[in-house]
Amino acid sequence: MTKHILILAGDGIGPEVCREAERIINWLTKQGRAKFTVSHALIGGCAYDETGNPFPNETLEAARKADAILLGAVGGPKWEALDYAVRPERGLLGIRKELELFANLRPAVVFEELADASSLKRELVAGLDIMIVRELTGGIYFGQPRGVDTLPDGTKKGYNTLVYTTPEIQRIARVAFDLAGKRNGRVCSVDKANVLESTELWRQEVQKIHDAEYPNIALSHMYVDNAAMQLVRNPKQFDVMVTTNMFGDILSDCAAMLTGSLGMLPSASLGAKQANGRQHALYEPVHGSAPDIAGQGKANPIATILSLAMMLRYSFNMAAEADLVENAIKKVLADGIRTGDIMQSGMKQVGTSEMGDAILRAME
Ligand code: IPM
Ligand code: MG
Repeated sequence: MTKHILILAGDGIGPEVCREAERIINWLTKQGRAKFTVSHALIGGCAYDETGNPFPNETLEAARKADAILLGAVGGPKWEALDYAVRPERGLLGIRKELELFANLRPAVVFEELADASSLKRELVAGLDIMIVRELTGGIYFGQPRGVDTLPDGTKKGYNTLVYTTPEIQRIARVAFDLAGKRNGRVCSVDKANVLESTELWRQEVQKIHDAEYPNIALSHMYVDNAAMQLVRNPKQFDVMVTTNMFGDILSDCAAMLTGSLGMLPSASLGAKQANGRQHALYEPVHGSAPDIAGQGKANPIATILSLAMMLRYSFNMAAEADLVENAIKKVLADGIRTGDIMQSGMKQVGTSEMGDAILRAME
């Protein structure tokens, strides 16, 4: 069966890193391992420039039809002065919300070859394999009311609302428990229940789902400040972490750095399985648009290619091909090939497309 992949390359280094992933998609098709068709659409700043809207309707329509979506990155200094409603980031938040991609999976895996590239000591990170499950369509990112009001005395008041409902908490908790069941059987739920009522509810609901449906998973709860500290003190204590939208945003950047570079971290954003068996899914590197190096052919495409591997695994049930991609990356790293962000002395530094070449060669 032919599967259709929509690529939303976006801004900054997005197009460069997506190009390398697309070459791998084409390679898989050429090898007869799968039948993929690919199309492209606009999102983020480039979409704003073209249409005045960071998330054009056309893109939403294409996204609804796709079997899976690969996204590069959005945003950059060029659009920072724009009104919030048309900022590139609204495009990303828009697609997450419209497709109800509520479950964001951010694995932080340390490749043996890069254990020395981490800012932490090798023994703390070697062999690290944690999965951060971030709630992606609720919480303070979307809560109402929100805005900036001008007060009678001329000063201003800015506000956002942190809100979670029982069903929102339950469905993300189930994703975390299901994943833990296929991994090491441990979930740490991260909240700020000592201060925020909405996350006190979070803690209670996660515990309830655990007790009722997943008694065999070991569940612990941790306050987010402690979790941030534990992530850099002893990250290997974690298996699956599940947390709110904003805490997940912050903790996943922190976890990414444990792996040596933001350029290494993929992610999957999944919707609910629909009655017809379809499931919306968007895959994207965790790094942003990196405007400082955009267009220079320097960016590390590995996070995007690892995101493609997640797509093969989660959307297309192609575990063998996902392994092939991931093992090719391991081989390239073992061969001492590095982009600038993960460069170490004695290794060979290459650009974006040479890294893509090397991974394709290793796959062959
Ligand atoms: C991420 C990013 C986004 C977020 C931004 C670009 C809106 O930081 O995916 O982690 O905050 O979710
Ligand atoms: Mg982020």
